[in-house]
Amino acid sequence: MSLTDHAERLRALPFRTILSIRTATKPLSAAGWSVDLSRHYLDTDATAALFALAEDRDLKGALASLFDGEKVNASEDRAALHWALRAGHPESDEAQRVRQTVLAAENLAQEIAWSSRKGATGERFSAIVHIGIGGSDFGPRLIADAFEDKRRDGIELRYCANLDPLDLELALDGLDPAQTFVIGVSKSFGTEETLYNLGRARSWVKDGVGKDWAKHFALVTANPERATEWLDGADGLLLDLPESIGGRFSIWSAGSLACSIALQADVMEDFRAGAEAMDKHVARADIAENLAIRLALMDYWNASVLGFGARALLAYSRRLRLLPAYLQQLEMESNGKTVRPDGRSVSEPTAPLLWGGEGTIGQHSYHQWLHQSPSMVPAEFIIAPGTTEDTEGVTGLTAHALAQAEVLANGRSLADVQRDEPDLPLEIAAQKVHAGGRPSTIIHAPRLTAFRLGSLIALYEHRTYLAGKLWGLNSFDQWGVERGKTMAGQLKPALRGERTATDAITAKLIAAIRS
Ligand code: F6P
Repeated sequence: MSLTDHAERLRALPFRTILSIRTATKPLSAAGWSVDLSRHYLDTDATAALFALAEDRDLKGALASLFDGEKVNASEDRAALHWALRAGHPESDEAQRVRQTVLAAENLAQEIAWSSRKGATGERFSAIVHIGIGGSDFGPRLIADAFEDKRRDGIELRYCANLDPLDLELALDGLDPAQTFVIGVSKSFGTEETLYNLGRARSWVKDGVGKDWAKHFALVTANPERATEWLDGADGLLLDLPESIGGRFSIWSAGSLACSIALQADVMEDFRAGAEAMDKHVARADIAENLAIRLALMDYWNASVLGFGARALLAYSRRLRLLPAYLQQLEMESNGKTVRPDGRSVSEPTAPLLWGGEGTIGQHSYHQWLHQSPSMVPAEFIIAPGTTEDTEGVTGLTAHALAQAEVLANGRSLADVQRDEPDLPLEIAAQKVHAGGRPSTIIHAPRLTAFRLGSLIALYEHRTYLAGKLWGLNSFDQWGVERGKTMAGQLKPALRGERTATDAITAKLIAAIRS
């Protein structure tokens, strides 16, 4: 029986019937997390068919290729060695070289945090400004926001990513250039937004401290030639972002230097240790117990077989409030594709739209849509309180997440409403009906620690890579983002009035904007 046949068979059943046979489904666990897949359109036979798919697409082999440092990024003819950035004892020379780049950044972070490295005027650094975009921004921003309460005293941390000039102005507002250290992260050192903001930051520092301005900069890049050119003969710090580290997999790299400086020393250490623990699990566990394989199979099943075009990520954790934005880049830039490395098109839907937010806050917003809109979207609940000191809050947070998942699945029929509230007019009762039948995953940890943030992100990385394998995609390139960049370059002269845009509607819009 094909996967499609299984899907048709299961979709013909009431969801409650499926759930009634799934109560014995055991949660899976690894590296501080447990994952429950009970509430999905699955049964033993469909699960076995998915395991057969994992065998057929050789997911275990794909993991071995990744961890052996093979060139899994075919279009760019590269290995993907992000796992080496968090490996305590990497084996190969190349993995050791990659790991070394983290240790160099950690040393620099200590020098700045402990003020043995000072600015051009001899003052200590009291503010860090991180400039980067996409994979060179989301990661450090996520960690710093997650562990805001673990900041070192006396060091302020600011971020700037946007081409909107206000972003840098706000990032620098109130800071003293003599005490500010700027970290520019760009793998290519050719990204317009980053170069624009770095250029303006350089002028601001130069105006403030004079000729030794470069003491206030560290540039993290895989393109030292361009970065050296940017320094224009000044003696600035360059940190290596190896070519084998994709931007959206670079959270473990020297690109997170800002966090190493501004957060207490054990945060980044624990974060990388958590990821390494997940790597070990994913590399070794069999298909049935392997969290990354199981979640990748769910992604394939829900998106490609059942046809759900979106997935909602509902993070019940203050520390994970930036996670949806982070994972959007990881998953959608990796697998938002339809053409395989050999040029053939994928015939089925691939990565779904990933969106979401922070629970319980989202309950007062888009959860209405999740429950009662005609669209059905699988939800992924991450329940991981930031602290367990106040049990009342933890109980409330957890109860809300579990209640949402239960209502999404079981719904509330008209008969239920009328039984509970017999005096309601029919038109009101009808509006209280929840269709139910909406699948969900529960990912749980009793508390969100740095270790668990690391293991969680590593899990999503491996899941993304494996889901890409199921779709036959190369998850490590991103051709789709290039065209818009080229077009923007062509439209700037039109916006300056130097030429007319070739597209008639764009030309009309530019005329209106210019007027
Ligand atoms: O948006 C495309 C992209 O290439 C991302 O993949 C990357 O993370 C981001 O731009 C920034 O690139 P860079 O680090 O080269 O500045």
